[in-house]
Amino acid sequence: MNGRWALGPEVKHGALAGGAMLYDASRVSNLSPNWFDPKYWEARGELDGAARGRGTTHFVRSAGKDYVLRHYRRGGLIARVSGDRYVWQGEQSTRPFEEWQLTYRLHRAGLPVPAPLAARYRHHGLTYTGDIITERVAVVGSLSECLRTGALSVLTWIAIGRCIRRFHDLGVCHADLNAHNVLLSEEAVYLIDFDRCELRRPGLWCDTNLVRLRRSLEKVTWALPPERFGEADWYALLDGYRESSAPRAPPAP
Ligand SMILES: Nc1ncnc2c1ncn2[C@@H]1O[C@H](COP(=O)(O)OP(=O)(O)O)[C@@H](O)[C@H]1O
Ligand SMILES: [Mg+2]
Repeated sequence: MNGRWALGPEVKHGALAGGAMLYDASRVSNLSPNWFDPKYWEARGELDGAARGRGTTHFVRSAGKDYVLRHYRRGGLIARVSGDRYVWQGEQSTRPFEEWQLTYRLHRAGLPVPAPLAARYRHHGLTYTGDIITERVAVVGSLSECLRTGALSVLTWIAIGRCIRRFHDLGVCHADLNAHNVLLSEEAVYLIDFDRCELRRPGLWCDTNLVRLRRSLEKVTWALPPERFGEADWYALLDGYRESSAPRAPPAP
């Protein structure tokens, strides 16, 4: 996806040694390049845990605010060769700037995504590395973590389906829709991790997204008690997904 759409006046672009950053000055006016370095937060005693996925996602708690800091890492076999380096194709094609701008747009459209705060890249010859900082939303856990603790209500499965549908209605094809990228709070369902996501016209990709999520649910629950995920849960999710998102017709007189 190219990230070239109008950004609000609160979005600032700053040069830094060997690269640049993009940030929302209405949310992080005091941002400095140190913010992208977990060691900076560690030295201040403001690191508040971490989640291990492809790399390590750090949680920061500073001045009463909660942030999530992620360094971009490659997955699959290529990770062994190039770890965290991506081929440089210009600033607008960097993973952090693309993800930041898409998330910004989704957040502005009212979709349940964490507010993007800042992104940066550092350019080294033919390659670059990148980082992104987002708001940490107060959640019970990811869908995968919640399933490890207990079964979900049918209403939660429906809410997950509805949430995914809202993204699909806007044309958001999630490149990695899995049970770790769906977050559950008491009131809401969030999607995260929009690296490599694209805006597309409606198409088969919607089903492909759902199939990927289903595989992930099977994988994360296979060793858990059977009531954690079964056909009825999946159909509840699909019911939520298939409810028409068009405005309902007024009742007949
Ligand atoms: N904005 C956020 N608010 C709360 N928790 C988050 C947020 N972003 C990520 N997490 C937690 O961190 C985990 C890993 O984050 P993610 O950004 O998906 O990185 P990766 O997929 O590269 O490991 C998620 O599964 C979730 O539990
Ligand atoms: Mg993830």
